[in-house]
Amino acid sequence: MTEVEVRLMPAYKVYIGRGILDEAIGKICQKDCKVMVVTDSNVAPLHLARVVKAFDRAGYKVSTFSFEAGEASKTVETYLAVIEALRYRRFSRKDIVVALGGGVVGDIAGFAAATYMRGISVVQMPTTLLAMIDSSVGGKTGVDLAGGKNLLGAFHQPILVAADLDFLDTLPEAEWRCGIGEGIKYACLAGGELEKLLAEGIEPLERFVELCVSYKAQVVEQDQFEGGKRMLLNLGHTLGHALECASGYTVPHGVAVAKGVLIMARAALKAGELRRDELKKVEELERKYSFDLEGEDIDDLLEFARADKKADADEGINVVCMRGIGNCAVRRMSWAQFGEYVKA
Ligand code: GLY
Repeated sequence: MTEVEVRLMPAYKVYIGRGILDEAIGKICQKDCKVMVVTDSNVAPLHLARVVKAFDRAGYKVSTFSFEAGEASKTVETYLAVIEALRYRRFSRKDIVVALGGGVVGDIAGFAAATYMRGISVVQMPTTLLAMIDSSVGGKTGVDLAGGKNLLGAFHQPILVAADLDFLDTLPEAEWRCGIGEGIKYACLAGGELEKLLAEGIEPLERFVELCVSYKAQVVEQDQFEGGKRMLLNLGHTLGHALECASGYTVPHGVAVAKGVLIMARAALKAGELRRDELKKVEELERKYSFDLEGEDIDDLLEFARADKKADADEGINVVCMRGIGNCAVRRMSWAQFGEYVKA
């Protein structure tokens, strides 16, 4: 089992490996308490029984809460239903919420844990590649409002993350692609071994997850609340979000991020900041995992991006620019400058 420490106050560990559930649960310091495993209708039939048994074996009083899978469930109503279940089951501040699932489950369960009785412990148990390498680490939690995604939320770090790679055995192809899309972002941010591993086929997977998590951990350690360096993790996300939105959310997040990263890499070449061989590496990564390399209607995306970030519209935006693979930087730009930068 691989361990990555996230050195915040308090620190916590991300455990990665195959068949690690019992061992990881054994590392939880809070004993003799209740846990409520929050999951969704996709994950419950696949993995819930195994997780419940593992907590049971470890001596916890386990209950479960499941909701309909999908981003449409990331609402205040689902969040309140989780809170009500915690209250009904008389959870106290010494008890634990377990988020078993992908990003939506992690966000809702994490937000419930962040706010129930002013905050109780959450264990993140990601079941998708995307959640393992990104959303389960770093403490972002929240739900969507009619006015926008993640408008209501909190930073609430987990006490432990258990990324059991066995969960990925049942992961649908589309979900793999989402994880790889975010993985390409990490490869561009971190470069080095991570880029090489992705180029060669993400084997061993455990090392790939470890490298992504280690990169994210060191960013979050320096900037937990996204005042600066953490914005790097948004590489490709401004136009990626715009693409998701323009497609009516038929283009999944990770796929949109892969396209967003490609657009930023091409823009960086044009700005003279990325070498041609580096752009070629990005394009080869995207091709290897069957992401399309077609150009997009940038004006259209810019319009969606601007609507998405309406609060910032007059001040401009923070743009994550590539100056090399493994060398990205956040720059403040006006919308006009951003438009110039990304247009081929
Ligand atoms: N997913 C980006 C972040 O956690 O900041």
